[in-house]
Amino acid sequence: MRIDVFTLFPEVVDHYADSSILGRARQGGLLDLRAHDIRSAATDSHRSVDDAPFGGGAGMVLAPEPVVGAVEAVESAGGMPRPLLLLTPSGRRFDQGVAAELAGSEGFSLLCGRYEGVDQRVADHLVDGALSIGDYVLAGGELAALVVVEAVARLLPGILGNEASAGDESFADGLLEYPQYTRPARFREWEVPEVLRSGDHGRVDRWRRAQSLAATLRHRPDLVRDRGGLSPEEVAMVAELGEVRLLRDHGYDC
Ligand code: ADE
Repeated sequence: MRIDVFTLFPEVVDHYADSSILGRARQGGLLDLRAHDIRSAATDSHRSVDDAPFGGGAGMVLAPEPVVGAVEAVESAGGMPRPLLLLTPSGRRFDQGVAAELAGSEGFSLLCGRYEGVDQRVADHLVDGALSIGDYVLAGGELAALVVVEAVARLLPGILGNEASAGDESFADGLLEYPQYTRPARFREWEVPEVLRSGDHGRVDRWRRAQSLAATLRHRPDLVRDRGGLSPEEVAMVAELGEVRLLRDHGYDC
């Protein structure tokens, strides 16, 4: 998969993307990530990329010329994958569903905003859409772009060591993940739950499902509502964990 990133900090993007899972994916040829420097398309002698907002107000706005220039330079050198998506807090919310959508595509490109924003003509005439990684404001789109790249890349076939791991985790089925443990079975006075050491796969599956349901109800009741609540069987499973108070707090009789 090819992903092009337009940024004022290509070295930051490259550096992160050279380590860990992304680094391996790049080395193995599964991920063709190209970071392009917006400043290389600046035309004035100071190589400036920003200017004060028309109408007044604090901060600086990323100007249209270097952004459009950087994108057009790549387009005329053979092109980059579309859609081109702007990272901005006012974009469409990025979640696991969008990650899966992008992972199923041939590739895409990302444009990192900076300063107080990007000239609106870039949003209106250059990009194909906008993504936000959450309801908070970062100083720029680089971290957001890396979040998108990593969430997408780890879904690509062959990238995770264990092919099963991407399907069996938080959000894959609209629920948060159950807790995981490894050796030692006892660390200090903290024990791994007995059921996980029992060797009884039926009990393990039921416990994990119940833990997922309880964690989602506790931390993300909106996700439980989105899937239509808990069935009576699921309520019984969560009750078996001793989470009767949690269930009652969310309006379930048990
Ligand atoms: N740029 C600044 N804040 C952002 C956010 N929350 N998501 C995406 N891009 C951003």
